[in-house]
Amino acid sequence: MKSTKLKNISNLVSFDTIQNEIISKSNMEIIFENNIIAEVGIKLGSADKTIDCENKLVTPGFVDSHTHPVFVKARDEEFSRRLAGESYESIASKGGGIKSSIQDVRDATETDLIALVKKRMDSFLKLGTTTLEAKSGYGLDTESELKSLSVLGKVKDDHLIDIVPTFMGAHTFPEEFKNDPDGYVRLICNQMIPAVAEQNIALFNDVFCEEGYFSTEQARKILETGKKYGLRPRLHADEFFPSGAAELASEVNAFSADHLMAVSGNGIKKMAENNITATLLPGTTFSLGKTNFAPYNLLRNAGVDIAIATDFNPGSCFIKSMPFIISLCSIYLKMPVHEAIKASTFTAAKSLGLENEIGSIEKEKKADLIIWNIEDASQIPSHFLDNPIRKVIKNGELLFTA
Ligand code: NIG
Ligand code: FE
Repeated sequence: MKSTKLKNISNLVSFDTIQNEIISKSNMEIIFENNIIAEVGIKLGSADKTIDCENKLVTPGFVDSHTHPVFVKARDEEFSRRLAGESYESIASKGGGIKSSIQDVRDATETDLIALVKKRMDSFLKLGTTTLEAKSGYGLDTESELKSLSVLGKVKDDHLIDIVPTFMGAHTFPEEFKNDPDGYVRLICNQMIPAVAEQNIALFNDVFCEEGYFSTEQARKILETGKKYGLRPRLHADEFFPSGAAELASEVNAFSADHLMAVSGNGIKKMAENNITATLLPGTTFSLGKTNFAPYNLLRNAGVDIAIATDFNPGSCFIKSMPFIISLCSIYLKMPVHEAIKASTFTAAKSLGLENEIGSIEKEKKADLIIWNIEDASQIPSHFLDNPIRKVIKNGELLFTA
């Protein structure tokens, strides 16, 4: 067994499951044995190896609980079109958007996709993300969806970052089903979901439930079918219109309802009553040039648990940096920085069912940690660009030193 001690931590910020609150403490030390945290406290004993944190901030590694990394290229031209005044919705209605990322994923070999995804994972890890949820959803036929999930599985086996795979055949309707949307829902339910379950290559099942995409009826069918096959439900909900997706998330007991820029009062109430986690994605609102950020205060005041994530994807958000997402939360959502740290670590882990293993710096959790270049968490929102992360420790292994 190899033990490692972190000393000279100026400030340790983490959710504490016993006190049920985020704690911020000075003079703390951490010892981990192999990949598991063994002790957190003051003036701990010695260990085989010591890392001097040089009086800097230490937090848990980030859990990015919503990403779409299996694609070939970013749709840069759409960004320019949006700058010229077109909306995401209007570009999508003219054949752009998700649909225009499909052909090259279908054409790509698994080897090409693995190389692309691996590179993206290297960047996530450098930015402090130690666990990441990753969706398929740019293949949209059985073979290409299975290929995308297989890519995620292979990168996972070969990369230190932990990847939680989500099947998202219900991202949009592919061209060949544009006149038969229910036929595509049948394909998802009768062929894709059974094949994904058979190959055991996804843990979650996500649906884009939104006007112009999957209706609540179609989403319910897909999510309920997934549940029968052991796939846990999560949803893209009420991003552009209040379409009843938050209510559906409550009905199907989803692990998370995400986006929520246009969630209704009733949707918030149902989420609170049913303990549904809200995952807010302010990077997308920002990148789309919109200002209607999700109603963080209404959700929080209603008692909804809040996670935050990047939504990294080839069209509406190219952001991989959780420090930048914290900055957006702080500036636009008025989220206190300690809340943002909880939302991007513990609550995000909870939305993946992993809160007993990761998401906080506590005994018996995985040693997934960030040693920052700043002394205090309050500096994150204003220093996000200034390389604020010095070292990332993943599974007890020191990975990166700025
Ligand atoms: O979460 N909203 C749906 N899916 C992505 C967008 C994906 C794309 O535009 O390629 C999102 O924002
Ligand atoms: Fe998304």
